[in-house]
Amino acid sequence: MNDLKVPRHVAIIMDGNGRWAQQRGLKRTKGHQKGADTLKTISEYVYDKGVEVLSVFAFSTENWKRDKEEVDYLMNLFIKAFKENFEVIKKKNVKVIFSGLKDRLSKEVLKTMEKMEEETKNNNSGIFNICLNYGGQDEIVNATKRICEKVINNELDIDSLNKTSFEHYLFNELPPIDLVIRTSGEYRISNFMLWQMAYAELYFTDVLWPDFSKKDFDIAINSYTNRDRRFGGIKK
Ligand code: IPE
Ligand code: IPE
Ligand code: MG
Repeated sequence: MNDLKVPRHVAIIMDGNGRWAQQRGLKRTKGHQKGADTLKTISEYVYDKGVEVLSVFAFSTENWKRDKEEVDYLMNLFIKAFKENFEVIKKKNVKVIFSGLKDRLSKEVLKTMEKMEEETKNNNSGIFNICLNYGGQDEIVNATKRICEKVINNELDIDSLNKTSFEHYLFNELPPIDLVIRTSGEYRISNFMLWQMAYAELYFTDVLWPDFSKKDFDIAINSYTNRDRRFGGIKK
């Protein structure tokens, strides 16, 4: 399964739901609904392609700036979509984890998240990392605070800290991201998984997330396969 030509960890910035709806004269929320269907299709597909970890950006720490109506809709959609997605993911023996801050999330959302994590914790055919109320800078600050606490309590020796041990304090310990996919024609990272994408290959497509298909995923993987990853070295 672990063909080097297949990215081990794929991260997706699922963008363009609002524009998809607006282009059709629909409310933005309709785009989110269609986007949730896309996530279901793609999350079911990637593990069959040999991907081990799929990280998706579901809601950023910056997305709280949106109208309350849209935020409330998204939170309710998460509960509904997670439950629907869940059955598929469970069948695939994939472990569900969440990355992000827990503050500001409703009890109901938290309960759904906990249930999914608990019921899949022993699954070992893949990892589905859902980034919810997530910000890459927050993740690093949060890790740094936890490290400081340990040092103050004499539980950690500063000299023992390195890139590998630092990862222990992130929301989750994950392999580095190999491929980042961003839909909707925006060329930015928007504070997503900054630490983990240090050496990732970046793939941008104009396709809006609700239209993103298995075929589009294959095209992204194909692009990745043709990249020359040098990691600072020189090709022999
Ligand atoms: C991505 O789609 C979904 C979330 C950020 C939750 P957008 O809602 O950002 O869609 P656009 O970018 O406005 O089209
Ligand atoms: C990034 O998309 C966040 C998610 C996909 C959840 P945004 O639409 O929020 O990002 P910007 O505003 O284009 O940077
Ligand atoms: Mg957007």
